[in-house]
Amino acid sequence: MTRIDKNPRGATSAVTVRGLVKHYGETKALDGVDLDVHEGTVMGVLGPNGAGKTTLVRILSTLLAPDSGRATVVGYDVVRQPRQLRRVIGLTGQYASVDEKLPGWENLYLIGRLLDLSRKDARVRADELLERFSLTDAAKRPASTYSGGMRRRLDLAASMIGRPQVLFLDEPTTGLDPRTRNEVWAEVKRMVGDGVTVLLTTQYMEEAEQLASQLTVVDRGKVIANGAIEELKAKVGGRALRVRPADPAQLRPLAAWIDDLGITGLATTAVDAGRGSVLVPVLSDEQLTAVVGAVTARGITLASITTELPSLDEVFLSLTGHRAGTAADAATADTREEVSV
Ligand SMILES: Nc1ncnc2c1ncn2[C@@H]1O[C@H](COP(=O)(O)OP(=O)(O)OP(=O)(O)O)[C@@H](O)[C@H]1O
Ligand SMILES: [Mg+2]
Repeated sequence: MTRIDKNPRGATSAVTVRGLVKHYGETKALDGVDLDVHEGTVMGVLGPNGAGKTTLVRILSTLLAPDSGRATVVGYDVVRQPRQLRRVIGLTGQYASVDEKLPGWENLYLIGRLLDLSRKDARVRADELLERFSLTDAAKRPASTYSGGMRRRLDLAASMIGRPQVLFLDEPTTGLDPRTRNEVWAEVKRMVGDGVTVLLTTQYMEEAEQLASQLTVVDRGKVIANGAIEELKAKVGGRALRVRPADPAQLRPLAAWIDDLGITGLATTAVDAGRGSVLVPVLSDEQLTAVVGAVTARGITLASITTELPSLDEVFLSLTGHRAGTAADAATADTREEVSV
């Protein structure tokens, strides 16, 4: 039996999902999901609360059985070959999975033993991973005394003990402050550098952009878009330039004027009356510079010009024409950087 699924272009698929369905009573948590993650790449699964992200990760890691459909991880079927499959994956769940009462070292050692490592190997692996995730100084302290970021790093370390080929990360940075988020991102990038294939779920476009090359957008159990992240960004307008005139009366004239500038390929502006600004979707640095240049040259007094990545809500709006199902406010605009005033 071949263990490897080949896709039509010849790239090796580490995770293959076809027509996956899972219902909870009336709720269709997964309603026919298809996706492929190629070996050595990172797939981001982006979706709001209740989209079905955790359900997908739980099925792929054999914690939950699907109602129908098929999924394989490095060729092992989630339903028929759960034991083999578990040996090649790592999982960092949405909620901390370490034992709070136990010290960091102890947590890692015990997981190593559960994975059938010898006492010596489990000890060595625990030391190694604590070092790697900068937790050596905290090794002997109970995990309950760790900060959110340290706990998340311990979770990641725990998922690496069995040297997984495929790693599932369920919202690895939700609830973390920006600095800690960056630390976790750096660790994930290192794992990918080591050749691990990653499927991560997130509510943040910025996170997907940082870590993933491919993106699957899910809403209410359905895939609503997928593809290379650059393609999807282009589809949803990439960055947006937010121009706020000092005088709100100039809002609409300013939007019309930017539309009339004739900058090559520039998408139509939108007026955000609530925030007193004009949003200009920009696809390239050239477009961005051209708009900023034209607006400042015109001499309109501006309160601010900022660039921002599309929020999850904006991604949904442009892909589906409607706002994300629930709690899209959990992921408002991801980044803002001043370019000039
Ligand atoms: N054990 C369960 N029993 C009943 N309904 C469930 C159960 N688990 C999940 N659901 C429902 O299935 C849907 C998908 O849930 P899931 O946890 O997969 O979403 P999610 O994308 O991970 O959301 P979040 O971003 O909040 O973590 C939701 O409507 C949820 O209420
Ligand atoms: Mg979840």
